[in-house]
Amino acid sequence: MDEGWWPKPYKIKVVEPIRLPSPAERERLLAEAGYNVFNLKSEDVYIDLLTDSGTGAMSQAQWAALMEGDEAYAGSRSFALFQETVQEITGYPYVLPTHQGRAAEHVFFAVTVKPGDIVPNNSHFDTTRANLLALGANPLDLPVPEAFDPELPHPFKGNMDLAALKKLLREARERVPFVMLTLTNNTLAGQPVSLANIRAVSETAHAHGVPLILDAARHAENAFFIMEREPGYAGKTPVEIAQEVFALADGCLMSAKKDGLGNIGGFIALRDPELYEKCAEKLILWEGFPTYGGLAGRDLAALAVGLKEALDPLYLRDRVGQVRWLAEELRGIGVPVYWPPGGHAVYVDAARLLPHIPRDQFPGQALVCALYLEGGVRAVEVGSGMLGEAARMELVRLALPRRVYTAEHLRHVVRTFARILEGRERVRGLRLVAGTGPLRHFRARFAPL
Ligand code: F0G
Repeated sequence: MDEGWWPKPYKIKVVEPIRLPSPAERERLLAEAGYNVFNLKSEDVYIDLLTDSGTGAMSQAQWAALMEGDEAYAGSRSFALFQETVQEITGYPYVLPTHQGRAAEHVFFAVTVKPGDIVPNNSHFDTTRANLLALGANPLDLPVPEAFDPELPHPFKGNMDLAALKKLLREARERVPFVMLTLTNNTLAGQPVSLANIRAVSETAHAHGVPLILDAARHAENAFFIMEREPGYAGKTPVEIAQEVFALADGCLMSAKKDGLGNIGGFIALRDPELYEKCAEKLILWEGFPTYGGLAGRDLAALAVGLKEALDPLYLRDRVGQVRWLAEELRGIGVPVYWPPGGHAVYVDAARLLPHIPRDQFPGQALVCALYLEGGVRAVEVGSGMLGEAARMELVRLALPRRVYTAEHLRHVVRTFARILEGRERVRGLRLVAGTGPLRHFRARFAPL
């Protein structure tokens, strides 16, 4: 068999029609959307790589579980199943469901963070950053310097800079309520964090009496990379690795729309009963009673299955393998791709692809627009548009929804890039005409220059 080939661990049972609008329609629709693809209707998108969040296809086992959802307000059977699954994977006894990841952040930060606090992370995701800023706290990114070299073949570019963490804790420990690690590091190209780094961060934080909280949105993909790349882990299963990872921390926040294989959902899981009590109070106020927390019983039932499926090694090989395949194909035709590719998405270096567009004309957003105009492909900018001054790279993320697209769909994406490469000097920069604040990218409007 070909090298790089693997048997696909599923086939398609339900199909959703999609359509490629004509070039003239695409031009009109993009202009109407203010050159921000968040404003497009999904029915006007052919291949939607905007996000891998909540966009996956559920398995037949998840759909079956959905039918057995227990919609009781309190004490639902579906919650018990969900709680048991989270406890088994994380080892944390206290589990609070939320409607999605940012709700977990909102509840948890409200009881742990005060104005002036500093929360270090390998990199905060945009909602994590915005939730901390809203409380008057300082989100501090401490990635390893290797993360900013898009060519360096380092296996764990998601790692945290330990020396920087030690310095922070020596100098300002009393302002640090907890340390966070995001697995995988979505803001920095979906790069994984090694177990050695997680262990070192855990030891450093704990030596200062500071808890470690994981952002576990893509912890299963992170576990797969550890299995593949970290010496000593090839013989372990992703579940065993995940358990070892969670054991090093004191709790986690998770958007279950990623490695929970759910269309909605999230949770907080903790070791500390007092912290749990405080979070439960806020949860009741903002999300719902602690046995449903903003979700329907059926959602919890589907997540109980999805959280386990996401750790299946055959699923993960296919998942990470598909992302890698797309990255290799794109690199093969000369697209500057962040290397090595991450677990959920291919990140394209727009600054190098479109060197004639200066940073203040949003090269990433210009590439996002070109992808839609050229092929009806929707991607997302992770650069100056999203991160403002904090942006160190001008990346465009092609996030692959889980179990949704085939190699045929992705070949269309490769062909679209090939056409953009051919006429790249014709791609124009943009001017921001509306949008402010740390979440401006969702609602911003641009005009072509
Ligand atoms: N943490 C990380 C690492 C994330 O990637 C996300 C969401 C969240 C937290 C928030 O979770 O969306 O359920 O409220 N990321 C999505 C994305 C939106 O496209 O990367 P949420």
